[in-house]
Order: sequence, then C-alpha cells, then structure tokens
Amino acid sequence: MSTRGALRLGILISGRGSNMTAIAQACRSGRLGAEVALVLSEQPAAAGLESARGFGLPARAIPWPGAALRTQFEQDAASALDAAGVDLIVLAGFMRILSAEFVTARAGRILNIHPSLLPKFPGLHTHRRVLEAGERSHGATVHYVTPELDGGPRVLQSRIAVRSADSEASLSARVQATEHIIYPKVIGWCAEGRLEWREGNPWLDGVPLMAPMIEEFDA
Ligand code: GAR
Repeated sequence: MSTRGALRLGILISGRGSNMTAIAQACRSGRLGAEVALVLSEQPAAAGLESARGFGLPARAIPWPGAALRTQFEQDAASALDAAGVDLIVLAGFMRILSAEFVTARAGRILNIHPSLLPKFPGLHTHRRVLEAGERSHGATVHYVTPELDGGPRVLQSRIAVRSADSEASLSARVQATEHIIYPKVIGWCAEGRLEWREGNPWLDGVPLMAPMIEEFDA
C-alpha cells in the first residue's frame, strides 16, 4: 500500500463500467480510503470512459492492438498506470486476458470481479450456464488475479438464490447489484490494510484467508 495516503486505484474496464462507478462513488463519499487515479479501457468507445470523465476522473483509452500485440498494450498500460501512481489494479469488466508476465510482475496488486461463484463457471456467459445447469444459487467473486484464468485466490463472494422465474438478464442484473457492494468492500479492506498479500496468499486481519468470505443477498 502507498505511503502517500489514500490507496490509488487503476480501474480497467471494457464496457459500461457500472462497477467502476460504484467504486468511484464509494471513494468520493469517503466510505473508501482510496482514490481513482486512472480509468483505462482497451475499447475507445466504452461507455464507462464517458461516465468516468463525467465523474471528473482521469480516463483514457489504449486501443486493443490485437492478441499478437498484447505485449505492446501491456507496456503502454503499465506506463500509464505507473505514471498515475497506481497501487492497486482493479479489473472491472475488463474482457481481455493479461499475460502471465504482466500478472506475475504485479502479484497481489491486481483484483478482478467475476460473475459466478468461482471455482464454478469460470469464463464467459456465466448466467446462461448457471440456468442451463439448474443451479440453485449464484453470485459473484472478488479474487486476486494470477496467470490461471479466473483461478486466483478468492476473497469475497456474494451469493443469491436462483429463482424459477429468472432469465439470463434478470440474473445478470441481480448479480451485478451485489457486485457493486462487494467490490468496494474488498478494496476498502485493502485500503485499511486489513487485506494483504503475503507469500502468494491473501491474508485478512492477520490470518491467511483459506476460503473466501461469503455474503448472502436477498436481492
Ligand atoms: C460485471 O458483471 C463483471 O462481473 C463482468 O463484467 C461485468 C461488467 O459490468 N466481468 C467478467 O465477466 C469478467 N470475466 P460493468 O462494466 O457494468 O462493471
């Protein structure tokens, strides 16, 4: 964590940016001892970039150059994040896979939110797959990013009951509403020094976090 005061966040988005907005609002309200130092997207047309600028946040696009040039993108992104003095990289609907080199060099300094109860349903289309599998519960997971896709140590999960009337759209909306609560909460733990990365594992309140914390929602 930074010794300059508030934890400085670099938020990476690809689309709407509703998690980014929830985090920015929590920072602005003083509920979170952190500040958004940079919002970055690989999609110049991402709606979240406009929202961020409307919020008065520094926001910029580094257009995705194609998978073959991912290293170039990562170098440009790293320069921008470093120049902004970012302590913690927050993936919030960022739909690209970062290289093992990028992630490993920043171990314990990248968080992600994923719309499922990991380790169930890594990857895409989680809400549809949850319905197809007949799952009774669903949710979202905040986890540290490691080279294994959606496989890094889990910190906090939101859990909701799947309803018989649920559609992909309703599940997505209900899970996202919980994301907007649990993501700022975990970042707050980082800002307060309660959540730390020690020797490749998350520690919460001075003890190793062996399993994710779970918050139940009736959303
Ligand atoms: C969120 O639901 C997030 O969990 C998901 O994208 C959405 C972004 O919404 N992330 C992933 O699927 C990552 N694999 P937002 O842009 O409104 O925050």
